[in-house]
Amino acid sequence: MDKILINVLKEVQDNDGYISEKAMKNISVKYNVPLAKLYGVATFYAMFKIEKQGEHIIEICGSPSCMLNNGQKIEDFLEKELKIEVGKTTKNKKFSLYKTSCIGCCDEAPAMLMDGKPYTNLTIEKIKKILKKY
Ligand code: FES
Repeated sequence: MDKILINVLKEVQDNDGYISEKAMKNISVKYNVPLAKLYGVATFYAMFKIEKQGEHIIEICGSPSCMLNNGQKIEDFLEKELKIEVGKTTKNKKFSLYKTSCIGCCDEAPAMLMDGKPYTNLTIEKIKKILKKY
């Protein structure tokens, strides 16, 4: 049943960009699954989002190579600049900020993805330029 639920949640996520409370309730009724179980599945997997996402998704690498190469400094700067914590979306719905595991750019750490596009050798200045572009 979990596999079916995951496929249904994925379909909603692909169509709507996130899984709304309304969608969760509809799935709960249609598949006769307790809402708490659905919520548990949707929040267990990082690929599912239960809040409306920003126009642009920033994913900072939180794996060791990046974290040991000023990754935390980059994360702290983004949180301060966007005025949100990791896992949240800006009030204007322009950016959502997440932490991800290694994105395969360890030799150019620290790195992040912006809407799936990798940005590497990050510095505060580079981040400022990237944010301005968006
Ligand atoms: S550890 Fe960050 S890209 Fe691999």
